[in-house]
Amino acid sequence: MKAQLRRATAADLPEIALLDGRAFGFHYGEQELDDLRGVLDPDRFVMVHDGDTLVGTAGSYEFAVTPPGGEPVPAEGVTWVSVAATHRRRGILRTMITELHRGYVEAGVPLALLTASEGGIYGRFGYGVATVNRTVEIDRRQADFRPDVPDPGGVRYAETDEVRERVPDIHRRWCARHPGALSRSAAWWDFTLLDRPHQRRGGTARFHLLHADGYAAYRMDGGTCWVVDFFAATDSAHVALWRLLLALDLVPTIITRAVPADDPLPWLLSDPRVVRTESVADGVWARVLGVPAVLAARRYAVDVDAVLQVHDPVQDRGGRFRLHGGPDGAECTPTAAAPDLHVDIRALGSLAFGGPRALTLARAGLIGAEDPGSGGALLRRFDAACTPDREPRHGTGF
Ligand SMILES: CC(C)(COP(=O)(O)OP(=O)(O)OC[C@H]1O[C@@H](n2cnc3c(N)ncnc32)[C@H](O)[C@@H]1OP(=O)(O)O)[C@@H](O)C(=O)NCCC(=O)NCCS
Repeated sequence: MKAQLRRATAADLPEIALLDGRAFGFHYGEQELDDLRGVLDPDRFVMVHDGDTLVGTAGSYEFAVTPPGGEPVPAEGVTWVSVAATHRRRGILRTMITELHRGYVEAGVPLALLTASEGGIYGRFGYGVATVNRTVEIDRRQADFRPDVPDPGGVRYAETDEVRERVPDIHRRWCARHPGALSRSAAWWDFTLLDRPHQRRGGTARFHLLHADGYAAYRMDGGTCWVVDFFAATDSAHVALWRLLLALDLVPTIITRAVPADDPLPWLLSDPRVVRTESVADGVWARVLGVPAVLAARRYAVDVDAVLQVHDPVQDRGGRFRLHGGPDGAECTPTAAAPDLHVDIRALGSLAFGGPRALTLARAGLIGAEDPGSGGALLRRFDAACTPDREPRHGTGF
């Protein structure tokens, strides 16, 4: 086979959808293709042909992602990765990822993100797990607020048009407070709010709950309430929205991914055990393509001054950088000075939003001090500096 790689055009969407549908077990009809035209940018897609046959495709969505304490940075969310079963394990994925990354670097985009169908695929391309998907199940009938917890009120049901008008701003404010939060474009909101039957995964259409500083959407599926979006830009909105959700008579069970490990919800209840973690899995994976841009974009919990040797055997985006950062900002510049810490590029992706502890990654051999004796204190400081005051949450699946 002589694989030919090229960029996609708008006319390629039906062929791309056919291949992707085969990989993920879905048939796209005319309606679905029309819906997708708003959110899929063909310029961001590559295609691999064997003769006239499309055998590989991959692309990305344009996002901005919030680093801990900093302003959002541009990121490409790699998606629609599909290789025909007839042509698997011949290097087509590798060819496509290499081309996509090359394009991101050329465009000055410092981060590539993705969600993985299988956990064993993307580490080899320099990605590390940066956020997690935690699914919790709430025994609503046993979920009583502590008597001293206020009831701020202010939540009401809304219809789709009002959500489209008001919720993007609430979501932007939520993103500003949450490391790892992914932006949503107007086109993304339009697509989300189409809420077609195939987007519902067997549940009802969305019910929208609106607060001046928060938004929640849920679906009903039998007796179970699935909270599919939950964004509270203030702690008061968080309490108000949960008060409403936990007041849904006739609902025995609420399931959601919107309660991270450090969410205050269990602490607001008389019996924290009613919020039960059902599963924790990798969420967004991050691949650092611009080390200085990513490390300088975030704030650090304590002052840190260290020379990092970043190892990127895959794509040569590593090197030696001096990081000087603290609660008010950071600088990261190439240097020839002797290294203090060695950091694997995958670990840097994991640390981009402050997900796992740097000390945990060090125990896994992905970070290490140049001098294991004297470097221990610096490693602990780096760990403290990188740990944000909130667990990262991406908030948008893709
Ligand atoms: C996953 C998929 C894209 C891989 O495509 P591919 O062209 O077969 O991959 P490549 O031949 O380029 O493989 C590149 C490397 O990844 C490895 N790899 C590929 N798929 C893998 C998997 N599912 N699990 C573990 N390793 C995998 C290969 O062994 C190879 O390793 P090496 O080069 O380091 O030795 C393809 O099998 C597919 O389309 N699967 C169904 C849809 C899907 O899961 N897409 C991913 C969405 S996130």
